[in-house]
Amino acid sequence: MNTHPDTVRIFFALWPESVARLALAVWQQRLEGMGRTMRTDTLHVTLVFLGEVEKARLEALQLAASEVTARRFELRLNEARYWEHNRIIYAAPSVIPAALLQLVSDLQCSLEKHGFDFARREYMPHVTLLRNARREDPLPGMPAVRWHVKDFAMVRGGGPEYRVLTRFPLV
Ligand code: 2AM
Repeated sequence: MNTHPDTVRIFFALWPESVARLALAVWQQRLEGMGRTMRTDTLHVTLVFLGEVEKARLEALQLAASEVTARRFELRLNEARYWEHNRIIYAAPSVIPAALLQLVSDLQCSLEKHGFDFARREYMPHVTLLRNARREDPLPGMPAVRWHVKDFAMVRGGGPEYRVLTRFPLV
């Protein structure tokens, strides 16, 4: 429940096309029983997490994101890992593409330039597959997911429901 009706929870993310999404669903099936499976239709990689944003500023936020002119790239997710601190099992790339780091950096710069605030912490791209997961060693090996990233999205969050508000093409 949103207790602040004038604000919405917002983050920017890579939102997979259907091929990558289905491939990630296969990973989730292999992990069944190890935790609470996330809805396949909302799997994503967060780029920048803003948290609560005033609705009146959403247009300015869209403008800030639309000024980013980053390149398309391929994201190869090839490892399932367990994160102790928040008990999630997630999909990760063993090699983080330079273009992804550039996209995050460009987006952060544009958001800052437009006066938006967000927590900066070391960027670790991941797709949360399961929550409340228990550690299991080793995790099953996974077929690599090749995801051709052509855009990024501004997403409204809060609870299990996510809504893609706008997509921004990469060049
Ligand atoms: P997670 O999957 O690792 O929990 C929507 O909640 C998205 O924003 C999720 O991808 C979540 O990451 C991420 N997220 C939530 N809180 C965050 C925070 N304080 N900083 C960075 N990312 C956050």
